[in-house]
Amino acid sequence: MNTIFRASVSFLILGAVTATTLSGQQPERNPFSQNSAVSQAPQGYTKEGVFGHKAMVVSAHPLASQVGAEILRHGGNAFDATVAVQLTLAVVFPVAGNISGGGFIVARMANGKTVTLDFREAAPMLASRDMFLDSAGNVIPRLSTFGHKASGVPGTVDAMVKLHKQYGKLPWKALVQPAIDIARNGVFLTVREAEGLNEVRESLEYYNPGKTYFLKPNKSPWKAGDKLVQEDLASTLERIRDKGRDGFYKGKTAELLVAEMKRGGGFITQKDLDAYSAKWRTPLRGSYRGHTIITMPPPSAGGVGLLQMLTILEAQPLKEWGVNSEKTAHCMIEVERRVYADRSEYLGDPDFYNVPMKGLLDQQYLRSRMSNYSPDKATPSTEITYGKDVRSFGSNDQTTHFSIVDPEGNAVALTTTLNGGYGSKVVVDGGGFFMNNEMDDFSVKPGAPNMFGAIGGEANAIQARKRMLSSMTPTIVEKDGKLSFLLGTPGGTTITTSVLQGIINIIDHSMTAQQAVNTKRFHHQYVPDIVRVEHGTFTTEVETALQQKGHTFRNIGTIGKLDVILRRADGSLEGAADPRGDDMAIGF
Ligand code: DON
Repeated sequence: MNTIFRASVSFLILGAVTATTLSGQQPERNPFSQNSAVSQAPQGYTKEGVFGHKAMVVSAHPLASQVGAEILRHGGNAFDATVAVQLTLAVVFPVAGNISGGGFIVARMANGKTVTLDFREAAPMLASRDMFLDSAGNVIPRLSTFGHKASGVPGTVDAMVKLHKQYGKLPWKALVQPAIDIARNGVFLTVREAEGLNEVRESLEYYNPGKTYFLKPNKSPWKAGDKLVQEDLASTLERIRDKGRDGFYKGKTAELLVAEMKRGGGFITQKDLDAYSAKWRTPLRGSYRGHTIITMPPPSAGGVGLLQMLTILEAQPLKEWGVNSEKTAHCMIEVERRVYADRSEYLGDPDFYNVPMKGLLDQQYLRSRMSNYSPDKATPSTEITYGKDVRSFGSNDQTTHFSIVDPEGNAVALTTTLNGGYGSKVVVDGGGFFMNNEMDDFSVKPGAPNMFGAIGGEANAIQARKRMLSSMTPTIVEKDGKLSFLLGTPGGTTITTSVLQGIINIIDHSMTAQQAVNTKRFHHQYVPDIVRVEHGTFTTEVETALQQKGHTFRNIGTIGKLDVILRRADGSLEGAADPRGDDMAIGF
């Protein structure tokens, strides 16, 4: 088996990503439409979908997708492929792929059973509520985002081992081997990866004063086509291959990690590594226009927020209004603003804070959230707060996502992250992998924005062993009891609204998976009170109309990288890789 994988991996060609162009054209008017909103088709990317009869892998890197597809071709199931893709991404996509971060899995078995696995990082036992504040109570800049103190206890390897034990078919070793081979033989950097590493060069030098292979020996900038060889990571992965969980959380890897923490004043100890355990959680289920939405419960804020937004939007004629039209955008922005206000108050790790799920998802409550909505003008966020009566309802660049469907019909949606690009920028000396900077996803001080501008309070305050709130929203959609599509994306707080737009594009606007992915996106998150947009999301006419209603726009380059698999009416699969990255769909 290993020989097969080695051989297949060795002839993979990098850069074979489908050509992508950004349309700079003004949209054409649709002469048949009487509805001005519909006629203003938004500009979008032009990547093409990929089709398969039986199976599909869509991930952020061509090599990772190829490894996943090879596993499926050789009799592995979606869970086997998930392990192999996750570990390969740790090698070929170090900006977000990881063995030292965390994430969420939402899975649907061929027989319809659904599960989620929460492998979000946990605060170290030595962590405390005010650990990122100075003696005057002010947030110490950069402390929760850079360097050793920024890391939570990693969850990835524990989750991969658990997933494989429960549902895997192929031998564990065969799933780890492709990542080892690529780490040892080297991976050719894409333009984006070379630029990514160059952008953090100073931080890498600062936090890794010995040396790291993520810096070129002569400190010259990386360029596309340069080969990155990761010997230390290959050895770490070999320990994981041979010892499973203990290859990371005990023995040499653990010693290297804990020594690195000591060197830089970090908090993670061997006790933390021993105590970490990924958790199976009951999936959240909701419905939208006859579809069943299966998504991630807390500590993801994404799944709850997604269901809240879909529930409110279901009453609106989005199809008639058209995609990215004035009416659709205004309504969606106003819904997003209110739902993110709820998030800032009520969402946190459910094992430490009583999240009022029942209230947050109550139909009547959600209708009441829109009582001060006006179709004609934006409601300033200063006039919005979280819904006050929730409890009365009783108890209740950088992350990455991949989607996999196997020939048996099992489906896995996995979103994983180090948080910021290359996490804390600390590479474990001798271990060869980046540590996460996930502690910043806690509310380090009530009302103080995190790196994505999100605010929070008590629900998401730091506490030893608690998991920080996340926006990651891996999601699976069913229609008539059958798999319809699965999706997810990176993008910090924009994750949930990108998933929302993906779902609405497919269900309301009858798009193919790739059209849904290519379409430009926008985002509002309550505070700051701005609409983040990709260039060209709205026509000038629509943007002016929205500004007149009181919306303020900020262009933020690209939003998210949705990787989607859609089961079509004839049972075939469409894989849609996001053109905003090096993402690739491979199906057969
Ligand atoms: O879990 C979260 O919500 C964040 N740590 C995700 C970070 C992210 O998506 C960055 N990527 N673009």
